[in-house]
Amino acid sequence: MYTVHKLADYSPTALDAAVRELLSALESESRAVNDESAWKDYRDRWVARKNGILTQINDAWLKAAPPDAKREVGKRVNSVREEVEHAFSLLRSDLERKIISESVTLVGGTLDEIRDWELKREGVDISLPGIRRPIGAEHPVIKAQNEMVAVFKSMGYSVSEGPEIETDYYNFEALNFPPNHPARDTQDTLFIAGQQSKPLRERLLLRTHTSPVQIRTMERLAPPIRVVIPGKVHRNDAPDASHSPMFHQIEGLAVDINITFCDLKGTLDHAMKAFFGSSVKTRFQPSFFPFTEPSAEVAISCIFCGGKGCRTCKQGGWIELLGCGMVDPNVFEFVRDNGYDPAKVSGFAFGMGADRIALLKYGVDDIQLFFQGDVRFLEQFA
Ligand code: PHE
Repeated sequence: MYTVHKLADYSPTALDAAVRELLSALESESRAVNDESAWKDYRDRWVARKNGILTQINDAWLKAAPPDAKREVGKRVNSVREEVEHAFSLLRSDLERKIISESVTLVGGTLDEIRDWELKREGVDISLPGIRRPIGAEHPVIKAQNEMVAVFKSMGYSVSEGPEIETDYYNFEALNFPPNHPARDTQDTLFIAGQQSKPLRERLLLRTHTSPVQIRTMERLAPPIRVVIPGKVHRNDAPDASHSPMFHQIEGLAVDINITFCDLKGTLDHAMKAFFGSSVKTRFQPSFFPFTEPSAEVAISCIFCGGKGCRTCKQGGWIELLGCGMVDPNVFEFVRDNGYDPAKVSGFAFGMGADRIALLKYGVDDIQLFFQGDVRFLEQFA
C-alpha cells in the first residue's frame, strides 16, 4: 500500500517520479472501491484533513522542501491535489449510480417498489403529487379597467397614476373647489384624523376622485398631453348594491391647442363603442363640476335592452356613466408656469367609475360582490 515518503532529491526527474508513483497508487486504489464502506475508507485515506495523503504530502513534500525547490514542489502538489479530488468525486457519483441501479434491479423496478425503496432510503415519497399553486386571475374590476385603458392607449393616450392619500390642495383647491365651497359637500370626504394644526391645503385625505392626478400630471408634463389615470378612490358612502366606500375611477385628460367640445364628444363616443359594442349610442347632458366648464354628464343607450327600457335602465333607455367637460381656465392657472396658459391651450377631462363599467359589462347586479373576495364569484371571470 502506498505511503508518503520524505523527498531526498528535488530534481524535476525525481519529483516527477514521486508524482507518478502516487498517481498510480491512486488509480489502483480507486479501482478497488466498489461499495459505500470502501469509499469511506478511501476518502479517509486520501482526503481527510487530518493525516490524509493530501495533507501528508503537503507537510512531507512542500513544507519540508528547501526554499529554492518550493516552486517546483508546489506545482506538483497542486496538480496531485486536483487529480485526487477529481478521482474522489467521480467515484462518489459512480457509486451513487451503482447503488440506485442495483436497488432498481433488486426490487424489480416497478414504480411502487422504487417508491418504497426511496422512502426507506431517503424518507421521500416520489409518488406524492407536488404542491399545486392556484393560478391567480385578474379581478373583474381591474380587467374592465385594463380594457378601458387599452381603448385609450390605442388612441395614443399614456397612463398616469397618483397617490391614494392626497392633500386637500390636489383633491380640491387646485381643482377650483375653494375652501368652504358647497361643491365639496358632493364628495363626502374621509380626512385623516388629527391634522387640525396644519393649514387646510396640506391636510391629508383619501382622494375622493382621480382628478387630483390631472394637476399632478400637468405639473410634471408640459402640453400637449393625453393621459388616462386609473385608480382607487374613497368616499364616506354607505355600502349598498351600487355604492362602496372604496371604488375605482378612470380619469382622462387631453390638453393641446384648439381642443374643443367636439373632440371630447368624439373621443368618448368612440371609447364607449369600443368598450361596450358599436351599437351603443352616447348622450351628453349639461352638468356641473368646479374644474370643468362647460360640464356634461354622459349616458349610454342601455346595453341590455338597446334603449327600449328595462329594469337595469329603470325604463329610461339610458345609463348614466361618467362626468366630463372642458378644463376650467381656473384649473390651468394653477399650472400656468408649466406651459398651461389658458389663453393658449384648451383641453377636456372626464372621469368614469371602473366598477360601474365592470358591473354593466359583466352583467353583475351588486357592486359588493366585487369586494367580498368570494372565490366562487371571482373565478367566473378568470
Ligand atoms: N371627478 C369627477 C367625479 O368624481 C368626475 C369628472 C372628472 C368630471 C373629470 C369632469 C371631469 O365625480
